[in-house]
Amino acid sequence: MANRLANKVALISGGARGQGAAEARMFVAEGASVVIGDVLDDQGAARAAELNRGAAKARAHYLHLDVTKAEDWNRAVEAAQTQFGGLDVLVNNAGILSLANVEQGTEEEWDRVSAVNQKGVWLGMKTAAPAMRKRGGGSIINISSIYGLIGSGGSAAYHASKGAVRILTKTAAIEFGPDKIRVNSVHPGVIRTPMLEALEREAIISLINNLPIAREGSVDEIAYGVLFLASDEASYMTGSELVIDGGYTSL
Ligand SMILES: NC(=O)c1ccc[n+]([C@@H]2O[C@H](COP(=O)([O-])OP(=O)(O)OC[C@H]3O[C@@H](n4cnc5c(N)ncnc54)[C@H](O)[C@@H]3O)[C@@H](O)[C@H]2O)c1
Repeated sequence: MANRLANKVALISGGARGQGAAEARMFVAEGASVVIGDVLDDQGAARAAELNRGAAKARAHYLHLDVTKAEDWNRAVEAAQTQFGGLDVLVNNAGILSLANVEQGTEEEWDRVSAVNQKGVWLGMKTAAPAMRKRGGGSIINISSIYGLIGSGGSAAYHASKGAVRILTKTAAIEFGPDKIRVNSVHPGVIRTPMLEALEREAIISLINNLPIAREGSVDEIAYGVLFLASDEASYMTGSELVIDGGYTSL
């Protein structure tokens, strides 16, 4: 099927690389126009240029978006409206990993992870909702993690932030239901992206070896799920958790 997002405008945070970049590519291929926001300006601009190459009309636009800053979100939503005429889809994808457990973690690390992974998602929804209302509805996809569903004995701040995203998604789904704005969370397992470079290769191998699907997932395997939630095919889904984890949470 093609054009599953025809005439839709999407904003993807953290779209300069990894899963967000794959989502931007897939969204444009399916007919959407996409605003990519990130703090990695060179990579983000290159990504947008790549997506626009050879196109008669630009379908991707990059701008600097630090998800912890309300004024950056205002500019990002405004860019979707001025560049492409409105906003229909928000993917709250930006995130950072921290490995420290409860005892080792510092207050500074806790605050930083919470600001990006948790506050950033709230600010994104808060800023995007009025623009989506103007279009008669929309779809918000919040990228949580399997670490928002289960514990691991480390990554304390990360687990807390991703668990927060899971439940924030449900309360936003209730709040925005009457506005026809759907809100769902996605819970990736072990996905091959630059984020995993913080982990030793042996640690990754031991994580994936016992999975029912015993390998890392690819960025496209997440992007397909996000694409589905963004599209009208998911018109009866809100407040849900889409787990894409090779069976990790079934163990
Ligand atoms: N890779 C995995 O195994 C995995 C598993 C579960 C969940 N996730 C989640 O998936 C999402 C995407 O991660 P990824 O795997 O593509 O990793 P990644 O590190 O490649 O991508 C994360 C992106 O977020 C951006 N970002 C970081 N801080 C930001 C900020 N303050 N403002 C705007 N952008 C910011 C980064 O610059 C980067 O482009 C994250 O929310 C992550 O927590 C990843």
